[in-house]
Amino acid sequence: MQATKQAAATAWKGRKIVFVSGKGGVGKSLVAAAIAQEETRAGRKVLLAEIGDTSYYKDFWNLPHVGHDPVATKAGFDIALWNGESCLREYVLFYLRLQRLYSLFFENKVMKSLINVAPGLNEIAILGKITSGVRKVGPPMHYDLIVVDCYATGHALALLQAPKGMMEAIKFGPMGHHSREMEAVIENQSICGYVVATLLEEMPVVETLEFCEKLKTQVGVDSSVIANKILSLPVEEAQLNQLKTQDPRGLGEFAKYLDAIFDRQRELFALLEKSVSRLARVPFIFSADPEVLVKKTGEALRET
Ligand SMILES: Nc1ncnc2c1ncn2[C@@H]1O[C@H](COP(=O)(O)OP(=O)(O)OP(=O)(O)O)[C@@H](O)[C@H]1O
Ligand SMILES: [Mg+2]
Repeated sequence: MQATKQAAATAWKGRKIVFVSGKGGVGKSLVAAAIAQEETRAGRKVLLAEIGDTSYYKDFWNLPHVGHDPVATKAGFDIALWNGESCLREYVLFYLRLQRLYSLFFENKVMKSLINVAPGLNEIAILGKITSGVRKVGPPMHYDLIVVDCYATGHALALLQAPKGMMEAIKFGPMGHHSREMEAVIENQSICGYVVATLLEEMPVVETLEFCEKLKTQVGVDSSVIANKILSLPVEEAQLNQLKTQDPRGLGEFAKYLDAIFDRQRELFALLEKSVSRLARVPFIFSADPEVLVKKTGEALRET
């Protein structure tokens, strides 16, 4: 695996927070786990934070429960599952210290449903939690690095833009103040790194390029792209070319089909290479064993 341009690992080396996003199903969770594993190996205390309502890693690592409070994994890092409600509850109790507000919010069905439709509120609460260690607020976070297994592209952008929206809506008071602090953290690229995973397929690559552009223009940050599940030719190029012409019983057609797939993969990789400043490759790993998947993904990232 060779490194391309500037090493993709610069997106997380020395950072305090790394956001991993990408189109649905491209390998965000696996890449996030591999980064967490690599940084743990490097001696850092790492938290892998899943954003959402259900934990992907619970089954991955056979854990009895994954919730808001971090749990240890046998991989050496901790895992937590954060969502709008769990983070908002913490925000109201610890940051604003309003027990009555908490009861009003969480013990009332109507209020709860209103909170869920209030624009940006869940996102602010989640981002507040992610950045709380750096901002030195809220419950202590004893981690050198938080790897965020983030939402897919569109929702991730909404998450990262939430402080801006909140700052415009509420200029004063603690919410305005906290939003300004969060905004400063996510824009600070010596603190936060941004990783976008993609497959070398048409739609994910197009979406990746659009997302990177929006991260640049709308959030003001650079990102590293990880081309995941790269297939490699099982034979030499010359052998494949020979097969394409010589075999009379259908194997030649299959060789042509394979050749077309690898051509397209190469074209899409070249397009990414031309368009992004940091690009890494992760091969398709022929295993269903989570430990093998994370280890091999980590090895591929280490080589970048
Ligand atoms: N390099 C790889 N080689 C083989 N399998 C992979 C590779 N990367 C990811 N996978 C597998 O592909 C599937 C999707 O990966 P993953 O769950 O990490 O994607 P995701 O982007 O987090 O998906 P979602 O959008 O649903 O959260 C999983 O079964 C994962 O183990
Ligand atoms: Mg996932």
